[in-house]
Amino acid sequence: ATIREFRRTLLAWYDQEGRDLPWRHDHDPYHVWVSEIMLQQTQVQTVIPYYQCFMAAFPTVTALANAAEADLLKAWQGLGYYSRARNLQRAARQLVTDYHGQWPTTAATLQDLVGVGPYTACAIASIAFNEVVPAIDGNAFRVFARLLLIDADVAQPKTRQVFFDILQPIVDSQRPGDFNQAVMDLGSSYMTAKTPDPAHSPVRAFDASYRTDQVLAYPVKTKK
Ligand code: ADE
Repeated sequence: ATIREFRRTLLAWYDQEGRDLPWRHDHDPYHVWVSEIMLQQTQVQTVIPYYQCFMAAFPTVTALANAAEADLLKAWQGLGYYSRARNLQRAARQLVTDYHGQWPTTAATLQDLVGVGPYTACAIASIAFNEVVPAIDGNAFRVFARLLLIDADVAQPKTRQVFFDILQPIVDSQRPGDFNQAVMDLGSSYMTAKTPDPAHSPVRAFDASYRTDQVLAYPVKTKK
């Protein structure tokens, strides 16, 4: 089971079975960014209608930068964590004023935008700009801890770098954004936290935790 075969299997599955989500219809960084901020603390099914209304109300970075606060908070009503909405507008204003509407295009520089942390920066960079970086959220921790039996404690801040260094050479260099989104889809279907179905997973041949019957022992997470 080579890395090449893993990528090919994962992407072939994603092409057939990946979720059709509204923010996947193009690779516009604005679309990717807003969706990723919404998805930070909110489930996909909840986000979908909010994302659609938000894009109808604020179709561009400029529209968001110029929005009235009341309209912005109304569009966010029900999603919670309102600081996300305020940070979105602050970042939109950064983009208009400091960047003259030109997006930073790397994970390293995207983190200069308010509200964009390491995960979100890597998601935007890979999906919108084809940077070959892993987007490491809870899904990616779980999926790769299981596939590769990585036993670093995912509750430790330094573990992100451990996973990043292992995963960067595994990400598909032609389709990094699709690779990352395929991992998210695996993590929400065959490789869920509590009720995984590793026997039917498209990547079962690459799943060391399934092979050794210890799926639920991964990821390793100490209580803090
Ligand atoms: N969770 C976070 N980002 C996501 C994405 N782009 N698609 C599906 N689920 C996600």
